[in-house]
Amino acid sequence: MMANYSKSKKYDKNFVAQNLMGPNVLILLEELLEKVSLKRGMRVLDLGCGCALSSIFLAKEYGVQVFAVDLWIDATDNYKRLQQMAVDDSVIPIHADAHQLPFADEYFDAVISVDAYQYFGYKDDYYDQYLRPILKKDALVAISIPGLKYELHKNVPDEMKPFWPDEALETWHAVNWWKEKFENKLNGLEIKEMTTFDDAWQDWMSTDNPYAVGDRKMMAADQGRYMNLISITGRSI
Ligand SMILES: C[S@@+](CC[C@H](N)C(=O)[O-])C[C@H]1O[C@@H](n2cnc3c(N)ncnc32)[C@H](O)[C@@H]1O
Repeated sequence: MMANYSKSKKYDKNFVAQNLMGPNVLILLEELLEKVSLKRGMRVLDLGCGCALSSIFLAKEYGVQVFAVDLWIDATDNYKRLQQMAVDDSVIPIHADAHQLPFADEYFDAVISVDAYQYFGYKDDYYDQYLRPILKKDALVAISIPGLKYELHKNVPDEMKPFWPDEALETWHAVNWWKEKFENKLNGLEIKEMTTFDDAWQDWMSTDNPYAVGDRKMMAADQGRYMNLISITGRSI
């Protein structure tokens, strides 16, 4: 990808830094959506939207209608951010668990999820039981998740043990692991390592968010050996 980030650099740096919850979601979205044809007016589920930066971006850059769903972040807090960014007409903030999505069957034209799907989507039944039913046939699916360059299973390298509790490796996996998970579930399935890893992580680690400060130490220990970011794209069958 050409690293000029023409869309994400339009956003106020302080606003973005204050609302990041991990590697820069706007940069990741730019790469993720490069080959995804979102069209004005589409109804999009932003699953695990966090502080709704991605929802704001989707509404402003693509003119889509967004349902901004998150579990840890309060819907009222997101509503205030949406008002501040003047997208409260086109983005609906919803506090919900990804296992209890309050939508009609075959409702969405697209689902976008950045740095959230790993928390629930690693389970075998998640896509078929909870997500596929609310997607229209042929809906766009675009997911970005933190992952691993290769499967570590229980063999966590000593230098990473202080940073990775057992649960982390239950949800972080390599490209081939995710390929098996999505096999025969999406048309045009493409799963690959993302190229914006360094830039997206750099933006996060330069914030003063206490989690980012902890992540700086993790990244220093990793030295580019284990962690990556993975994109999953396709169309629902
Ligand atoms: C690391 S944050 C990333 C947030 C945002 N997508 C971003 O990239 O800035 C992970 C998000 O996943 C959401 N999440 C985790 N488990 C969830 C669940 N079961 N249902 C809905 N959201 C969930 C959390 O609420 C959290 O906001």
